[in-house]
Amino acid sequence: MPNVIVVGLQWGDEGKGKIVDFLSDKADVVARYQGGHNAGHTVVINNEKFILHLIPSGILYKGKMCLIGNGVVVDPAALIEEINGLKKRGVEVGSNLFLSKNAHLIMPYHIIMDRENERLRGSKSIGTTGRGIGPAYCDKAGRAGIRVADLLQPSVFKEKLGINLFYVNFLLENLYKVKRLDAESICNEYMGYAEKLSEYIADTDIIINRVISDNKNVLFEGAQGTLLDIDHGTYPYVSSSNAIAGGACTGLGVGPTKISRVLGVVKAYSTRVGGGPFPTEIKDSLGDRIREKGGEYGATTGRPRRCGWLDIVVLRHSLMINGITGIAITKLDILDGLDVIKICTSYKYKENIFTDFPKESNIFEECEPVYEELEGWSTDTLGITDFQKLPEAARVYIKKVENMLDIEVQLISTGQRRGELIELKGQF
Ligand code: GDP
Ligand code: IMO
Ligand code: MG
Repeated sequence: MPNVIVVGLQWGDEGKGKIVDFLSDKADVVARYQGGHNAGHTVVINNEKFILHLIPSGILYKGKMCLIGNGVVVDPAALIEEINGLKKRGVEVGSNLFLSKNAHLIMPYHIIMDRENERLRGSKSIGTTGRGIGPAYCDKAGRAGIRVADLLQPSVFKEKLGINLFYVNFLLENLYKVKRLDAESICNEYMGYAEKLSEYIADTDIIINRVISDNKNVLFEGAQGTLLDIDHGTYPYVSSSNAIAGGACTGLGVGPTKISRVLGVVKAYSTRVGGGPFPTEIKDSLGDRIREKGGEYGATTGRPRRCGWLDIVVLRHSLMINGITGIAITKLDILDGLDVIKICTSYKYKENIFTDFPKESNIFEECEPVYEELEGWSTDTLGITDFQKLPEAARVYIKKVENMLDIEVQLISTGQRRGELIELKGQF
């Protein structure tokens, strides 16, 4: 049975939640493999809006097994809040949710360090979500991380915390000039979380490989996007995990031979939240118009998202890095009513033309987009479910993107709601 990765091909917020929700119907298992509650995945069912942060979007379907893999960094308080919020709204969260023992915990000092590091960077700040994501992954790579399994062994948890606080408190006092943290109160706080989360803690590597052996359909839900990937994104203006398809293997303990397809999610235009280069950004009132119509405000932090035209240069890079087998184009309806739609086909840098995305951050920052202009369409595409019913110019736009990228468009999303979508090719 197919195992499908859904991955963002831009700077996050491509509409992965909407696509994962649609595909979850036919999946048996939905699994998150990286990131943390910096993610905000929106699913709209009838008129009810759900924003998922750590829990896979598949939770909104009854009877789906949902896994939070080892590659995810978990703020236990945020996870408990999300579980309780869903339960209050009548969503079943219990024996269908599994949290990896190997996932790393976001600790209170990670949140302080995230905030203080941003402050120290001044004008070069990343614009993080302030959730402690970067410092938690730093500790993971530095082998100072505390993992979910440690919540179940108080003495081990206490010992690791004590060692960490030795250097953390030095930094807090001497570098950041903030108050020291107290081991005992953190320990008590986290043991409280342990009690609430113990029923979900499991060996998710064993579980996922068992379901794959049993020929079940597995859906891997990427968070963030390829340009926010720690290795392949617009470093240093990235998040701290491997958001790309390869992250699904390391972030869950699944071998690459088990992956059948990789569906890339592409917004019909571009957005980015936080700092960093963004060549196709529209800085005039048209950018504001797209932001308002597209509701382009962060699902996690509420910050306005920067809006721009579709960028074929970054998308070609994303296609390559992820081994994409097909794409889903979302938010086509947001482009309704524009006279002209632009697509960036290359970058101009001094006297050079680049068709590949430059790795040097300072060069990327100075690249100017070279555009191809297409005619817009004046009629509504909102809610259309049949490709032939799209206005002709919208069909031309889709076909143009398909040709420029040399990849099949397999899904087109035409609205926020579940069902507002054109399925051209099934994934399962
Ligand atoms: P994610 O992080 O990739 O899951 O994306 P977000 O949920 O952060 O942002 C996407 C936003 O666009 C959400 O508000 C979705 O409800 C909305 N959305 C997704 N697909 C469509 C679409 O085709 N049309 C419209 N109008 N909104 C969409
Ligand atoms: P989803 O899964 C968009 C951005 C932040 C910041 C950078 C680093 O909803 O697509 P971090 O807190 O991760 O250290 O911030 O990454 N960022 C996202 N942008 N969508 C996301 O997730 C994001 N998660 C992080 O705005 O620029
Ligand atoms: Mg989002």
